[in-house]
Amino acid sequence: MPLLIQNGEVVTAEARFQADIYVENETITAIGNQLPAPAGTEVVDATGKLVFPGFIDPHVHIYLPFMATFAKDTHATASVAALIGGTTTFLEMCCPSRNEDALEGYELWKQKAAGNSACDYAFHMAVTRFDEKTAAQLRQIVADGTASFKIFLSYKNFFGVNDEEMFQTLQLAAELGVITTAHCENAELVSQLQQQLLAAGKTGPEWHEPSRPELVEAEGTSRFATFLEQTGATGYVVHLSCAPALRAAVEARLRGVRLSVESVVPHFFLDKTCAERAGVEGMKHVMSPPLRDKRNLPVLWNALQSGLIDTVGTDHCPFDTSQKLLGEGNFTQIPNGIPGLEERVNLMYTYGVRRGGLDLHRFVDALSTRAAKLFGLFPRKGTIAVGSDADLVIYDPHYRGRLSAATQHTNSDYNGFEGFAIEGRPAVVTVRGKVQVRDGVFVGEPNRGQLLRRQPQYGREHAY
Ligand code: URP
Ligand code: ZN
Ligand code: ZN
Repeated sequence: MPLLIQNGEVVTAEARFQADIYVENETITAIGNQLPAPAGTEVVDATGKLVFPGFIDPHVHIYLPFMATFAKDTHATASVAALIGGTTTFLEMCCPSRNEDALEGYELWKQKAAGNSACDYAFHMAVTRFDEKTAAQLRQIVADGTASFKIFLSYKNFFGVNDEEMFQTLQLAAELGVITTAHCENAELVSQLQQQLLAAGKTGPEWHEPSRPELVEAEGTSRFATFLEQTGATGYVVHLSCAPALRAAVEARLRGVRLSVESVVPHFFLDKTCAERAGVEGMKHVMSPPLRDKRNLPVLWNALQSGLIDTVGTDHCPFDTSQKLLGEGNFTQIPNGIPGLEERVNLMYTYGVRRGGLDLHRFVDALSTRAAKLFGLFPRKGTIAVGSDADLVIYDPHYRGRLSAATQHTNSDYNGFEGFAIEGRPAVVTVRGKVQVRDGVFVGEPNRGQLLRRQPQYGREHAY
């Protein structure tokens, strides 16, 4: 059925104007004033609302065997939570461990998602070892439409790659023209510091941050950038959390390294005192890189405003209280992760745009358009234009509410942002022209989501 969004204020990364949007066969076919509604058209009144392109989360974990357990969401629960929060596409980390076969892992992740997602999705393919089979397997995965890699410099012996494997991965990425995303922490330093702290009887979650201090992340960021520079590959730092790591990324960019930066929602709002709370309350706030000293928060907000931080993701990775307790008495065993897929847009709109002076277009860019461009989805996704997919968020800036585990859709028994006030939420969310959410309620097709196949887009000659 055709869809007409009437009288909304359209906001993209570049423009803001009053218009109607007409949708046929999943795509936007007209944008203009007083567009007619032919018989059979579904009409949504967007008077007083902002109309954003569907938001894109560039970094989520849904199916994830990790730290002796599994992240709690399924594609069904995560995609509904995403849509209620205004995210219409996510990029999931496909993370077989170092002991598993990459291609089998890729097929498994695809199988988990297929037919089970209410929103569109794509994968970043994690390279967790590089042996004689890896290059051929990665070529096959890229040919299948997964045109981005992920490496972990951390998580030694599980997801982590060594420098030789990083070099081989980046050389192949440069040859294939795919972007490589990286978790940048020095694995050896983390391992040594963890052992020292445990030996000294420092076992609680408050020791997680000291086991991975800021310089550990700065070193990882700087080393990743050096390897990009040498191989000519294009890179993307995930979940950058602190000023020294940002400085390393910016210095690399100044040298001409093709490197983009993502920070994730917890690092904009929470600081390391959350992990210092007694008992399981502290454990709920353990993620890596850790929540940092609060002096980093304004640095991240300023970097976001100025564009030094390109994108805002979530690193959504839900574990419940009983799983967090696996690390009771040993902080290195606390499953790492804080969910945020459902909360990202409303938090960044409330505390960035409304209360923090974040430019509205930068907000759209960082939460949608830039990820679409970096990961080969633009202009199908990430904008409102004739020919683009009709993924639309009709946003009510007058809504007032509070975040809470009691009302969330993410499959966890706590909310890392419990009690945060929000000023605005999606009133209507569409995925390729189908209304999936109305006023915080999922009303759509649970299996509407499609795997988005992407083309490599980074020649060695590509430069900013
Ligand atoms: O703590 C985190 N970040 N958990 C998910 C795995 C990762 O490092 O992205
Ligand atoms: Zn990570
Ligand atoms: Zn992650």
